[in-house]
Amino acid sequence: MMFGRPKAGPSSHLKNVVILVVFSLHFVDILTDKSLSALTVVDNPESTVEDEEVHLDGEGDTEDLEVVQPTLLWQTLKPGQAVPIGSHVRLNLQTGQREVRLGEEQLKYLGDKHREVEDNGKAPLFSTQELKNALKKLKEGVEPETTEQEETAKESVRSQFRPIEELKKDMAQLDILVETDSQIMARLVAQFNGSSASLEERLKVLLDLEYLVHQVDNAQNLASMGGLKLVIESLNSTDHRMQENAAFVLGSALSSNPVVQVEAVDSGALQKLLTMLATPHPMAVKKKVLFALAALLRHFPFAQNHFLKLGGLHVLGELFRGTGGEVLRVRVVTMVYDMIMEKELNSQTGLDIIPDTAHQERLHQYSQISLLPLLAEQGWCGLVPELLESPEHDWREKALRALLAMLRPCRGHFQHDRGLTDVLGALRGQYQELVVMETSLGEEGGYFGEILDLLNTLVLRLK
Ligand SMILES: *[C@@H]1O[C@H](CO)[C@@H](O)[C@H](O)[C@H]1NC(C)=O
Ligand SMILES: *[C@@H]1O[C@H](CO)[C@@H](O)[C@H](O)[C@H]1NC(C)=O
Repeated sequence: MMFGRPKAGPSSHLKNVVILVVFSLHFVDILTDKSLSALTVVDNPESTVEDEEVHLDGEGDTEDLEVVQPTLLWQTLKPGQAVPIGSHVRLNLQTGQREVRLGEEQLKYLGDKHREVEDNGKAPLFSTQELKNALKKLKEGVEPETTEQEETAKESVRSQFRPIEELKKDMAQLDILVETDSQIMARLVAQFNGSSASLEERLKVLLDLEYLVHQVDNAQNLASMGGLKLVIESLNSTDHRMQENAAFVLGSALSSNPVVQVEAVDSGALQKLLTMLATPHPMAVKKKVLFALAALLRHFPFAQNHFLKLGGLHVLGELFRGTGGEVLRVRVVTMVYDMIMEKELNSQTGLDIIPDTAHQERLHQYSQISLLPLLAEQGWCGLVPELLESPEHDWREKALRALLAMLRPCRGHFQHDRGLTDVLGALRGQYQELVVMETSLGEEGGYFGEILDLLNTLVLRLK
C-alpha cells in the first residue's frame, strides 16, 4: 500500500561502472623515480573488455614462477603468474582479476629498460597472489609480511623500494585507490555547487546522488555535508529537469530516514514541495514531487501535522481534481490512505509490550493529527469513489481500501451517493464472475477474490 521505493531507474548506470584501480606497484617506482602519475582510478572498462582476448604464453625463465611478458595491451594475469619489474598491474575490482601491461617507463624506453631488466636477471618477480596480498595489506594499513626466504631477497632490494608509509601518503594525497561513498558524494556535491558545471552535468550529478542516497548512511552524509540543502534549493530552478531530478534525490534520501526527514523539514522542504504541487508544473515534475512529499511525511507525525496546517490536504485535493490523469490520482489516494492507516496503527494501544516515553510521545503526536475530519470537510468522501471507475484492478483495490479507511467520517455521504451504490453493485457482479474464473483455474483466494472481499465488506458496512 505504501509508495514503493523507486527502482534504481535512470541512475542504475552507476552500478555498471567498473571501477578499476590501476595499481602501480611500488617496484615500478624504482624505474620511474617516485612518479605518482601511475596511480589512477579508471572508470572506463572498455579497454579491459577488448584486451581480454590477448593472451601471451608468459614463457617463464625464472625458477618455478611463470613470468608474463607484458605488451602494450592489457592482459589478464593467471594465478601463479609473475610480472617483470616495471610492469603496470591493475586490479579489476569487478571481476577480481589482475591485468598487466608494460609500465609507462617501459613504454617510453621500450628496448633499453627491457633489456636492462633481462640482463640483470635478478629482477624481483612477484606472483599474482603476492600482489593481491600486498594490495590487501595496503588497504588494511598493514605492512606486507614476508617469509624468511623472502626476507633475504627483500633486503637486497629494500633500498630500491619506497617505504609503504610513503606510498600510502602518496595515495592519500591523490585521494585514490578506492573512493568511498562519502568521498564520491563530496566530489559530486562540489561539482554540483561549482560554477563551472553545465546544466547537463548537474543533472547527471543529481542522478548519481539519487543512486547513492538509497543507503541510509549516505543520505545522512549528504545532509551533513550541506548537499541536501543544495538539492532543496534546486527545486527552485527554472529548468524542469532540474526540478524533477532534485525532487527525485530528495524523495530517495527521505525514504525511511528520520534524520534526513527532520533536516529536510528544517530546510523548508515541506512548504517548497507543497508550493510546487499547487502551481503549474509538468507531470513528470509533479510525480517526483509527490514522491518526495510522501517520503517526507511517512512515519513523521510532526511533519504530517504541519502538512495539514499548511493546507496540504487541499493541495492534494486540487491535484486529484486536476487534469493530471489517473496515475496522479491513484498516488494521491494511496498517500492519503497510508496516512490514515499509519495513524490508526500507531494509535492502537497495547502494541508495545512496555509502553515507553517515545511511544507516549508518538501517541500524542498522532492524536494531534485530525486527518479524517478534514478529509470529510474537504470533500474527499465524494472524490475517492471516482477512482473506482478506473479500468485497473490495482487502482480499484486501492480505492476500495481507502473508502473502507474513510468509512467513519464518510459513511453518511457514501450511503446517499447513488453513483457509488451503482458502481459497487456493478463491480460486485463483475468480480463474482472473475472469481468463478479464477477458481476454475485452480486459484483459491486469488487476487479477484481479495477485491470481491473488499467490495462485500464495504457494501455490508454501508447497510
Ligand atoms: C557552495 O558554494 C558556496 C559558494 O561558493 C559555498 O559558500 C557553500 O559552502 C558551498 N556549499 C557546499 C555544500 O559545498
Ligand atoms: C526559492 O524561491 C522562493 C520563492 O519562490 C524563495 O522564497 C526562496 O528563498 C527560494 N529558495 C532558495 C533556496 O533560493
